[in-house]
Amino acid sequence: MKKPVRVGIVGAGFAASFHLRSYRQVKEIPVEIAAIAGRTKDRAAQLAGRYGIPKIYDDYRFLLDDPSIDVVDLCVPNALHLPLVLETVKAGKHVICEKPLTGYFGQGEPDKEVGAVSKRKMLDKVKADLAEVTRVMAEHPVKFCYAENWIYAPAVRKALEIIDRCVVTGAILEVRGEESHSGSHSEYSKSWRYAGGGALARLGAHPIGAGLFLKRFEGVKKTGLPILPVEVSADGVDLTKTPAFHAVKNSPLVTGWEDVETWAQVIVTFSDGTRGIFCGADNLLGGMESTMDIRLSNARLKLDICPVRICQFFAVDPAPVRDVYFNEKQETKAGLSFPSPDEEWTLGYPHEIQDFMEAIALDRAPLSGLELAKQVVEVVYAGYVSMEEGRKIILSPT
Ligand SMILES: NC(=O)c1ccc[n+]([C@@H]2O[C@H](COP(=O)([O-])OP(=O)(O)OC[C@H]3O[C@@H](n4cnc5c(N)ncnc54)[C@H](OP(=O)(O)O)[C@@H]3O)[C@@H](O)[C@H]2O)c1
Repeated sequence: MKKPVRVGIVGAGFAASFHLRSYRQVKEIPVEIAAIAGRTKDRAAQLAGRYGIPKIYDDYRFLLDDPSIDVVDLCVPNALHLPLVLETVKAGKHVICEKPLTGYFGQGEPDKEVGAVSKRKMLDKVKADLAEVTRVMAEHPVKFCYAENWIYAPAVRKALEIIDRCVVTGAILEVRGEESHSGSHSEYSKSWRYAGGGALARLGAHPIGAGLFLKRFEGVKKTGLPILPVEVSADGVDLTKTPAFHAVKNSPLVTGWEDVETWAQVIVTFSDGTRGIFCGADNLLGGMESTMDIRLSNARLKLDICPVRICQFFAVDPAPVRDVYFNEKQETKAGLSFPSPDEEWTLGYPHEIQDFMEAIALDRAPLSGLELAKQVVEVVYAGYVSMEEGRKIILSPT
């Protein structure tokens, strides 16, 4: 029997829950969830009870001090990602980091003023942080696993297999991607201080990550070198602060956003002259939509990463199915809907955790790693500079 990979989870909210369910599905690699650390110990204890986790802490440092833990899985608000990545790596442990790797969360300003800081200043700070994480990773022989589930979503994996053949004679000319829903459940997401941005950082990070991954893949396949993002232009707004929204009543969209945008779009120019268009928005009713449209010179791929339509349901009165889970962020089950038989599988969460456990146990690189995580942050923050300055921003990679 191989030695198990021993995991410590930090955070006890939404992401921690779906990570824990995915660890249960890992095949061929023995895995033990050794401990969980939450800010609120009771919440961590609830998850520990449900998943049989033996140790519960109210401080993540206990995980770092535990020599039996191999990997620390960070399921915490965005502002904590970078500091905890650095501490985990310095403690000699592998790290799994939820998206985005980092952002600007303030440098001593009052919380309410963080979102108003010049985006150029934010980009400079973010780039310094990315240089720091690169330096620290180079000094420690541990894995950085970037938890971008879109890379692992079955639809994207199938697209990759197809693109692998198509780019022998063709090229990806344009990648469009969007993740939208009616607004985050998490209070942390409403302020720049904790989220490091709005819809672009929180939702747009998924299609940006997948788009950059596909163009990297195409470049490596053709020449051995990745095709990289070189230029970004963007637009963004909090649609719930527009005159149009102020004039409406009873919208089921999430409101109360403090200083972050709820709608954003970036156009990325790649080093081969092709384009990506990526959108993240909190203005969509009817459940989450995660889509990609990949236009090649010789083929086209349309991906519905979520939701799927393999099960149809219709009811005038949805009361009997009140307790049945259908889809993330679906506001009502009245009328026609499409309950997802296994949403987490469709979104790639089990495949992601499988890859990370294999990467650690078999000492190989994960499919989604540090370079991708850094590039997503660079594109997002160049996007914020573009929104503020109203022009294209040239990327200078860290
Ligand atoms: N890949 C995806 O599809 C996806 C989906 C959702 C979220 N995410 C990412 O996952 C991360 C967490 O989001 P979430 O939705 O899980 O948020 P959430 O439901 O609000 O949970 C965050 C958890 O972190 C805990 N926490 C806060 N500060 C902490 C600290 N210092 N030490 C330990 N735990 C701490 C919170 O504690 P309390 O319980 O005390 O508040 C809470 O349990 C975010 O980075 C988000 O971007 C990714």
